[in-house]
Amino acid sequence: MTDERLILGIESSCDETAAAVVAGGTEVRSSVVHTQAAEHAVFGGVVPEIAGRSHVREIHGVVQRALDEAGVRPADLQGVAVTSRPGLIGSLLVGLSAAKALAFKWDLPLIPVHHIEAHVWAATMEAPAEARFPAIALVVSGGHTTLFLAAGPGQLEPLATSLDDAAGEAFDKVAWMLGLGYPGGPAIAALAEDGDPRAFHFPRYRPKPPRGGGRRPLGFSFSGLKTAVLYHLRGQDALAATPPPESIPRRADVAASFQEAVVDALVAQTIDAALEERYERILVAGGVARNRRLREKLGAAASAAGLSANFPAPAFCTDNAVMIAGLGWPLLVAGKTAGLALDASPR
Ligand code: KG4
Ligand code: ZN
Repeated sequence: MTDERLILGIESSCDETAAAVVAGGTEVRSSVVHTQAAEHAVFGGVVPEIAGRSHVREIHGVVQRALDEAGVRPADLQGVAVTSRPGLIGSLLVGLSAAKALAFKWDLPLIPVHHIEAHVWAATMEAPAEARFPAIALVVSGGHTTLFLAAGPGQLEPLATSLDDAAGEAFDKVAWMLGLGYPGGPAIAALAEDGDPRAFHFPRYRPKPPRGGGRRPLGFSFSGLKTAVLYHLRGQDALAATPPPESIPRRADVAASFQEAVVDALVAQTIDAALEERYERILVAGGVARNRRLREKLGAAASAAGLSANFPAPAFCTDNAVMIAGLGWPLLVAGKTAGLALDASPR
């Protein structure tokens, strides 16, 4: 059976090679993700050179599997959507080149997709069409902690961002201090399950209201929190070595208390933004949106404030191509396609 609205999506902006087929923006027909996490783990973070080469090895097989698992032939497709920005340039170019070749060979429109806009689209996929936008969108990933006004599909206007680390980056760095592997978010979340979130009090950054009153500015910062955890582990001697992971006392309590501080900072300012901007809907997206504690606390705070909060299904929080193929559909309908001269951009 053919579906008129089938889009093939391709994602290769960071350390996941992914392809997916989605119908009409929301019906997932297949999703294939090859993660390079193990290749980067020894370095404690993504190595661009390794990422680019791995994408080259994987991209063909990943796309083929996505088509096979969806039971779709090229002739059934309406377009090829691909992440063109932002990301690691050498990685983006692999997916973009593959998408161009396929669009040319199959005579299909090429649809450039902004990776962050696609993350936000993933949070709307389970909502009925009339209940998606406008919204306040919180994007929390390894590279971003940003609040946006989301007017419609692919329409984001930034409201506030992090002054230093992204929330996911803070998870990754604190995981490293605690001797947990990369990526750190899932490892901290798992360890925190056995810990007490109130065991230690770590700082929750919030910009001060202006002197003489007025609207309190929005903004995130995780460097103070990260330093507080570091000093907690080393004691007050800045030159002391970080203790070996196995000898860290109450490691689960540290993980749970750190996670709680990140979650509280994200929840407070997201709710503030929605109330101040008078938006009733909150969309949360990006790898950190997978965090169970964040989903719980933001969901509860939103209901208490008379707001709704939507998260992507857990598998579609971290990098995937369903969000690319999904957003590709409304972009195609809006005529936002590109020629084969389309370039990738790291920003
Ligand atoms: O969106 P994503 O897959 O890649 C980027 O575009 O950055 O996000 C990856 C980030 C990593 O920093 C990872 O540690 C974090 O998301 N992450 C989590 C969880 N799962 C992934 N952070 C907290 N809790 C989780 N369960
Ligand atoms: Zn991402």
